[in-house]
Amino acid sequence: MASHQLDVYQNEKGLPKEALAIFETLEVSEEQQRDIMRILNESMNKGLCPETHDEAAVKMLPSYVRSLPNGTEKGTYMSLDMGGSNFRVLLAELTDKGLKVQVDRYHLPEEILSGTADMFFGYIADNIELFMKNHCPDGTFDELPLGFTFSFPSDQHSLNSADLNLWTKGFAVKGVVGKDVVRLLQDALDKKNIKVRTVAIINDTVAALIAGAYYNNNCHIGLIIGTGINAAYMEQLSNVGTWKGDHNEPRQVVINIEMGGFGDDGVIEFVRTEIDYDLDSRTVNKGNQLVEKMISGKYLGEVARIILVKLTRLGVAFGGKLPKGLEEDWIFATSFISEIVGGDTEDKQPNSRRILQSLGADDPSPADCRLLHAICARVTQRSAMLAASLVGGLLYRLKKPLTGIAVEGSMYKGFPAFRERMTEKIAELSPDYKAEFTLVEDGPGKGSAVLAAVVARMDLDNQ
Ligand code: GLC
Repeated sequence: MASHQLDVYQNEKGLPKEALAIFETLEVSEEQQRDIMRILNESMNKGLCPETHDEAAVKMLPSYVRSLPNGTEKGTYMSLDMGGSNFRVLLAELTDKGLKVQVDRYHLPEEILSGTADMFFGYIADNIELFMKNHCPDGTFDELPLGFTFSFPSDQHSLNSADLNLWTKGFAVKGVVGKDVVRLLQDALDKKNIKVRTVAIINDTVAALIAGAYYNNNCHIGLIIGTGINAAYMEQLSNVGTWKGDHNEPRQVVINIEMGGFGDDGVIEFVRTEIDYDLDSRTVNKGNQLVEKMISGKYLGEVARIILVKLTRLGVAFGGKLPKGLEEDWIFATSFISEIVGGDTEDKQPNSRRILQSLGADDPSPADCRLLHAICARVTQRSAMLAASLVGGLLYRLKKPLTGIAVEGSMYKGFPAFRERMTEKIAELSPDYKAEFTLVEDGPGKGSAVLAAVVARMDLDNQ
């Protein structure tokens, strides 16, 4: 019996040599992982330094969040959590008894994702209106403060303004890059007379950190591993050369690392492969988010499909003839990988078989099913090794005996083999600086509602 779902085919008996050759290129040695940890730290310093910031791949964006909540925040707040192909609207009630939330989820159709800014923000405003009809009976609130979780690299100018730098994760809405997204959202809400005021904007990693700190004051990192990968942590202002705000107490600020861009300046070429070049060429943001494209849920399925297509062309899968369904780019979802790795074994691959059949392979051979299973295990293994190196690098930077990490995202939550392998490896890479992971369900949404409460408290204090 294999000791772990990812250790199947350890001796890889019976797999075609062409597959083994590709698998070899996907291996990331412990030495390479330690190099990544070290280089990540250098890249983070470049992002914080005004002289190197512009060309830095890891942007280290200051969030304007200077202190974390302490659990005493009160009131009712809304939040909008936008960062993947679904967005969420939350109504959060903070009382002595803690945090109670009502959440609705909305899908962002493809035509909205590639449409105009007006269509995009209009669509969001319509759904916020719908949410309020369902959850806030008329007359309950004068004007609800809203925290906006916007999970894309943005330059903040204050707690409630942020210009989008570039879209990631397949978004391509026109006319938004370079614009203040709070303004665009607020205008769309005002146009429809929706009584909501956007008081703060934050990245999902910053929100996860805030939500984590609301529950536990030993929380120092907010981590998202889902459609994308990224993290946030509190940095001393004296290290943030790019900081443009005041230097009053507390002399610290939460930094959105934008870790997914690590490697965009060429520093991780030693682990990138032909498969990664191929994948990058199929994306709308070529040359950007290179490490993210090797790790996160938006991309892993496509990485697996590219390998399968390549092996078919080499004549060692599907008798050399690609099933129709597999011809389409991006058709192979990362959730398939998680089902295959979670359900198939070295002896039986029922999930590989079912998924291949759903993609038009009428009667996949046992060898094809084994091959797909092996590909999925290898792709997951590499993703977990790289994610562990990034998190390990952060633990070394913070140098705390125990760092609380508030984490969310589909790869962490819904993909146990990935999660276990990553956390195991982090413990090996960073024995002196340990991590304690806490899953913060809906952390990205809850965090910005809590931040809206902090802003309301600050406003009261200043009156
Ligand atoms: C992408 C985004 C980043 C976000 C991450 C996780 O990397 O650029 O802002 O935090 O995905 O959603």
